[in-house]
Amino acid sequence: MGSNIAIIGTGYVGLTTGACLAHLGHNVVCADVVPEKVEALSRGEVPILEAGLDELVIEGIESGRLSFVLGATNAVADVDFIYLCLPTPQGADGAADLSFIQDAAADIGPHLKAGAVVINKSTVPVGSANEVAKKLERADVHVVSNPEFLREGTAVSDFLHPDRVVIGSDDRVAAQRVADLYAGLEAPTLITDPASAETIKYASNAFLATKISFVNAMAAVCEAVGADVNDVVAGMGFDKRIGSAFLVPGPGWGGSCFPKDSHALVRIAENAGYQFGLLRGVIAVNEEQFGRVAKKITQAVGGSVEGKCIAVWGLTFKARTDDLRDSPAINIIHRLRELGAQVKAYDPAVLDGSDSRLAGIEVVTDPYDAVAGADVLAVLTEWDEFKTFDLEQVAGKIGNKAVVDARNLLDREALKALGFSYDGIGRS
Ligand code: UDX
Repeated sequence: MGSNIAIIGTGYVGLTTGACLAHLGHNVVCADVVPEKVEALSRGEVPILEAGLDELVIEGIESGRLSFVLGATNAVADVDFIYLCLPTPQGADGAADLSFIQDAAADIGPHLKAGAVVINKSTVPVGSANEVAKKLERADVHVVSNPEFLREGTAVSDFLHPDRVVIGSDDRVAAQRVADLYAGLEAPTLITDPASAETIKYASNAFLATKISFVNAMAAVCEAVGADVNDVVAGMGFDKRIGSAFLVPGPGWGGSCFPKDSHALVRIAENAGYQFGLLRGVIAVNEEQFGRVAKKITQAVGGSVEGKCIAVWGLTFKARTDDLRDSPAINIIHRLRELGAQVKAYDPAVLDGSDSRLAGIEVVTDPYDAVAGADVLAVLTEWDEFKTFDLEQVAGKIGNKAVVDARNLLDREALKALGFSYDGIGRS
């Protein structure tokens, strides 16, 4: 028998969590504040690109185990578990802004069933479980921290095959009740106190960002000493203590989590009296990386991008998502535009330039249209299909045979054979 669950917030995390919990046999009602979104989801229309999610949403609706309602208070009255999956954007001082979560907690408090468990799924600063408890004003309701470790693009698979489930609570019984919701997953489960669970999430993301900044910094060293970063990473990866995951050099890390969470952890540490210099360095290397890629593109067109046409393949913050939030590609493009460049971009998941983040960028739906007459082609997102594009056709259309491959994705030898200049990351 499944449990009765409410999900507050139907973004990437909430929708994936709701659809996957329904798939595991629970009865799930998801609430959002946007009427059009609730209506579309109720018809089985998923507004984001996430592998396997459409199928699970439709499966849930057809089985009667997944439904959508407008407003959190309409979702919580008859359920035993309430997941808070609301945004925690970066506030002006770098700290996470908790207001969406606090407001929702205050709203739902009076409507909760006796003995219900409220679960913080969003990435929240240490101590937030207590903050939510205060806003609920319900002594009989436990607040449990249960951070998500879902990568966009593979969120469904990450949910259903997790490396671990982390649950933080001062109440062992409430923690075990939440652990039981995931009984079908056979994942190692760590039950700890709320502060440790909240810290695990920040520590994990900060460590992954550190790995990427490390490899991007090593790529700069490789360029300086004439080494090839791909071979360096391969050589490092054989060491089981290091591994090769998350050591792929690129234009820097972005997305909805790493940037905000790394800044938030710097602030959390500072507020607690520790200067997290290492993490500040990790963030600084990332900012430098955007600048390094912009400089490579500038050099590829002769030292100044003013009046030059830059063709870009890839706008999203990584492949297999349509998410543009904190995309390194967009950061780099706007740096170039400020220097007078004109940008024509192609991305398989971005069909037009209507998103405000794309202001001033000409978005085209054909990769070869993007390169027509351009002074350089810059590859900024690692979509696999870019590898299959016809480089001879690119050579025939581009104005100046120059490629900056910020994902080390294209066939370097083939490009050179066609007469292109090629500049990658940590290899030339
Ligand atoms: C991340 C975490 O991986 C996930 O566990 C957490 O819950 C949410 O944040 P996500 O933001 O979806 O997931 O993206 P991720 O796949 O981690 O990539 C983040 C950024 O790092 C992207 O810009 C990506 O291109 C970049 N990256 C990743 C690299 O440059 N090199 C790598 O080796 C891996």
